[in-house]
Amino acid sequence: MVADTGQVFRLEDYRETDYLIPETQLTFRLSPNRTRVIAELTVERRQGTADDAPLVLDGDGLELAGLEIDGTRVNLDNVEVAPDRLAIKAPPRAKRFKLRIETDVDPAANRALSGLYQSNGVFCTQCEAEGFRRITYFLDRPDLLSVYTVRIEAARDAAPLLLSNGNPVEQGDLGGGRHFAVWHDPHPKPSYLFALVAGDLGLVDDRFTTISGRAVALGIYVEKGKEARAAFAMDALKRSMRWDEERFGREYDLDVFNIVAVSDFNMGAMENKGLNIFNDKYVLADKETATDADYARIEAIIAHEYFHNWTGNRITCRDWFQLCLKEGLTVYRDQEFTADERSRAVERISDVRTLRAHQFPEDQGPLAHPVRPRRYREINNFYTATVYEKGAEIVRMIRTIVGEDGFREGMDLYFDRHDGQAVTIEDFIAAFEDASGADLAQFALWYHQAGTPNVAVNASYDAVAQEFVLELEQSVPPTPSESRKRVMHIPLAFGLVGPDGQDLAAGGETDGAIIHLHKRKQTVRFKGVAERPVLSINRGFSAPVTLAAAQNANDRLFLARHDGDAFARWEALNTLYLETLIAASKAAKGGKPAKFGKDLLVLAGEIAADEELDPDYRALLLSLPSETDIAREIGSNIDPDAILQARRGLAAAIAEHNGERFAELYAGLADTGAYVPDAAGSGRRALRNTLLDYCSAASSSPARAAEQFHVATNMTDRAAALAVLADRFAATPETEAALSAFEARYGSDAIVMDKWFQVQAMIPGVETVERVATLAQHRGFRMDNPNRVRALIGAFASANQTAFNAADGSGYAFVADAILAVEAQNPQVAARLATAFRSWRSLEPKRQAKARETLSRIAAKKGLSRDLADIVQRTLA
Ligand code: TRP
Ligand code: ZN
Repeated sequence: MVADTGQVFRLEDYRETDYLIPETQLTFRLSPNRTRVIAELTVERRQGTADDAPLVLDGDGLELAGLEIDGTRVNLDNVEVAPDRLAIKAPPRAKRFKLRIETDVDPAANRALSGLYQSNGVFCTQCEAEGFRRITYFLDRPDLLSVYTVRIEAARDAAPLLLSNGNPVEQGDLGGGRHFAVWHDPHPKPSYLFALVAGDLGLVDDRFTTISGRAVALGIYVEKGKEARAAFAMDALKRSMRWDEERFGREYDLDVFNIVAVSDFNMGAMENKGLNIFNDKYVLADKETATDADYARIEAIIAHEYFHNWTGNRITCRDWFQLCLKEGLTVYRDQEFTADERSRAVERISDVRTLRAHQFPEDQGPLAHPVRPRRYREINNFYTATVYEKGAEIVRMIRTIVGEDGFREGMDLYFDRHDGQAVTIEDFIAAFEDASGADLAQFALWYHQAGTPNVAVNASYDAVAQEFVLELEQSVPPTPSESRKRVMHIPLAFGLVGPDGQDLAAGGETDGAIIHLHKRKQTVRFKGVAERPVLSINRGFSAPVTLAAAQNANDRLFLARHDGDAFARWEALNTLYLETLIAASKAAKGGKPAKFGKDLLVLAGEIAADEELDPDYRALLLSLPSETDIAREIGSNIDPDAILQARRGLAAAIAEHNGERFAELYAGLADTGAYVPDAAGSGRRALRNTLLDYCSAASSSPARAAEQFHVATNMTDRAAALAVLADRFAATPETEAALSAFEARYGSDAIVMDKWFQVQAMIPGVETVERVATLAQHRGFRMDNPNRVRALIGAFASANQTAFNAADGSGYAFVADAILAVEAQNPQVAARLATAFRSWRSLEPKRQAKARETLSRIAAKKGLSRDLADIVQRTLA
């Protein structure tokens, strides 16, 4: 564990290395408790490096076992050796020399899951961002590109499978039950993309022929016996490879592409060159164990990691401040893939919901940072929704500004110009400017300035002058260490919707159907407008902003019925829900009953039955904002209990108003044919399960949900029924019976049991604190597995508003203890858990005080890791 020193890394301090390492040869003598790592590095003095420049390599917890230069043992008087640093004071003056470093590491003891570790007995590595330095001393930074040759030696029975990056070159027997394999990766790469896997796993194999005819052997390695569950991932991989050729002209560049699924993993997956390593929950799926949402997630992550081969691997980041260069762009690419493969409208709405749920609170709280940060203490804490999701929104805006063709030309130029390089956001932007002639100077602020911009919109219509006038005003709220903000370039797609529901020809001072807001205040006039139109603005969520648009409920209802933009239509309805829910929670806070206008209830009924709309889109239109969504919209002095009451109230009102119709629709959507996890099949199930939730909201009986749970023939319907039971009927025998049945059936399948932990962690109310504490003692729960921790503790802390924020502080205290317990083994995961506290200042004063107390207790602990200290101190600041 890296103890906190308070050191800060700054973008402006970037400097090239004095030395290069064009070639890296690694030998691993694998053994669970003591693995010998031999690194043979070809070191080159960079042109212009001072004669006396020391060679300083990074390490993290390393133990040096040997050091030679050009075949001669190095006198240790001339080196500084520490666990985190190896400094050779006077390296040879020659242009090139060979450095041989031996280290010993203990994979079995590595529970931080960074560097070389074991998961279920399988040796594997995780090197992003700075895990390679936990394996050997190296210039462990993304601008140091090297060609790797890797030799792996291991016991044959424990590890018949030996994998690394690139192409296989040799394998053979070593005697004594041991064997070896050699891999060579011809593409120079940064150390964070190095990977090794050795173990006994099952294989699903296939082939792919690239557009130019290269034959690629594909392999997905999973726990033995689970091969059938990898078929969907393989199909998603082949579709991703084809799509990248067709949409971006990007072809695969090695003879093999392997994916390995492991059970202990800090994040979703990792794009190591030619050897992606995945959290197994993002590979394994069949209808008995995975929901439609799981399938969709697997498809997106398989695509994401594959797409990194060009955006991240062939062209990588100069330094970690540029993380969004690969992540924002690759998220944009995986979102487009899903939009093409499934439903564009549903994907856009889902992506915006995710952005609002994760990125907006980050941008609006103490952890706010620019998409390209200027400083960090712990880089692992910057794998954030801002870097990933807001980063993707920026790429989307560039496409909006330069147009479809300009975007493709800009991407082509970027690939051409920078293939094989480690570059910056400035290089990325320049490619689009040079390809399209656009000036993106003001636009670039999106990368540099934190905070969610707000756009105030005022629309007026003058019937006599036949003029429609839009007044727009932007503001960016202050964020930590950035109090003054500059004016941004905000592209707003819009439409003026006529009384017949059709868009009027814009005919105003706009570029097509986009208003480019460049100034703080801007007025746009539309002349010759014969009838008062309804404004639909920020269509497709063309800019990641909040809007303050005074629009009356009738106009919103009109848009919710007629807007030709599928996103804007959903947004109109979502805004109506939010306004209604905010009013209802105010009433609840004052102890008054809520009243719900009939129009909204009627509209929900119409939408549910509207056969013109795809079922998955209807399901989205019918789903109410979450408690967290409502809290974020209220912004301050939040009372989670009042919000829960309001949300329950509106769901019940909609359900009661549409009782018979919903019940009929629910019955009519019953599962018939075979299970197919595609957009059509999952859409139908999504609508049906949304209706199940409504029908249950209007009923005091768990019977319907219990019935669905027991007859379900797939996990989507089974898990949805279980969620309704737990959420609405927690204390009933039906729910207890369903939970027991689920556990009896899946008790030995950890990935599935995570659903069981999670659904219970989300049960509203303070009693859940006890329940979760008890579940943490369950034999299937482990504090040292990130999936278990996220399913139980993570879900509780980030999604259970009423229990985590229990007024007595018990939820906070429980989570704080869990964070410290996790930190002892895995600081990265502990730090991420701690981000659940980031919105503490928006709560009502009593809860705020409890949260502050709890955070201070964590902060006061001696020897805190850099990961956790960084999050907790910024959250308290
Ligand atoms: N680069 C990975 C991705 O987004 C993210 C990742 C995987 C990661 N494992 C990690 C980041 C460990 C930090 C630490 O595809
Ligand atoms: Zn990524």
